[in-house]
Amino acid sequence: MKSGRLAVVTGGSQGLGLAVARALLREGYRVALTGRRAQALEEARESLQAEDRVLTVPADVSEESEVLRTFEEVQRAFGVPDVVVNNAGQAWLGEASSTTLEDWNRCLAVHATGTFLMCREAIRTWIAHSRGGCLINVASVSARTGAPLAAAYCAAKAAVLGLTRSLAREVAGRGIRVNAVCPGAMDTPMFHEGTLTPLAERFGRDRETMLRATLAQIPMRRLLDPGEVADLVVWLASDSARGLTGQSLNVDGGLDMR
Ligand SMILES: NC(=O)c1ccc[n+]([C@@H]2O[C@H](COP(=O)([O-])OP(=O)(O)OC[C@H]3O[C@@H](n4cnc5c(N)ncnc54)[C@H](OP(=O)(O)O)[C@@H]3O)[C@@H](O)[C@H]2O)c1
Repeated sequence: MKSGRLAVVTGGSQGLGLAVARALLREGYRVALTGRRAQALEEARESLQAEDRVLTVPADVSEESEVLRTFEEVQRAFGVPDVVVNNAGQAWLGEASSTTLEDWNRCLAVHATGTFLMCREAIRTWIAHSRGGCLINVASVSARTGAPLAAAYCAAKAAVLGLTRSLAREVAGRGIRVNAVCPGAMDTPMFHEGTLTPLAERFGRDRETMLRATLAQIPMRRLLDPGEVADLVVWLASDSARGLTGQSLNVDGGLDMR
């Protein structure tokens, strides 16, 4: 147990973010969870059963003032974070030809701008305190493969990969590591409510048929448990990964083997 290390996890109220929080707590971390819905964060905190080691900060990552407030609140309550996991995100489906500029901008604001703002504030904080740190950005395997009906989402996630590599080069000499994980389809609310259900409705199929069609494209023929992805995040945050920076690691059941 590395007691006392502190991690901020955006989008920590459910799905992968909650699984990452649970895995980090197991390793002895204290965690600060962000998300827009205060009630969902509170329920997540209760479910983690480690209340003195969990802080919740309701905040939207796409709003600069809320990101600044997040870092202020975390430092006031818990101190300077060691690790920041940029996980907040939302599903996004739609043909490029019918995507409005507003929809496009919103998708990039959450995934790309939100990740940038959190990375920037973490780096500023670590520089101000003359110390290193670890950034882990959650992208998607679809940033590499592309996906129909998901141009904005894939573009935003590809931006996260470019941001990860550029920041890694920029801050490596300061003892700050920046890496990304690229999950495939995960068994989370986003996959079921934000992807599978709308796709089934769109193609006039039932959810089971749609799920079978999705799994048929994955060599392992199953959805990922978010805990599997969380284990990779915890490893990337650990000293075992001290030689890695600027990497984007797939955890996708074999979907993308390049
Ligand atoms: N599920 C998959 O198959 C899959 C595959 C590849 C990559 N990913 C990526 O993995 C990450 C986690 O996905 P998930 O499946 O765990 O999603 P999820 O179950 O929908 O959870 C998303 C989390 O992000 C928060 N969130 C959404 N928008 C936010 C914003 N603007 N500011 C702050 N928090 C926000 C949500 O809380 P609030 O709604 O309360 O804000 C929630 O806590 C995302 O970045 C997603 O793109 C998912």
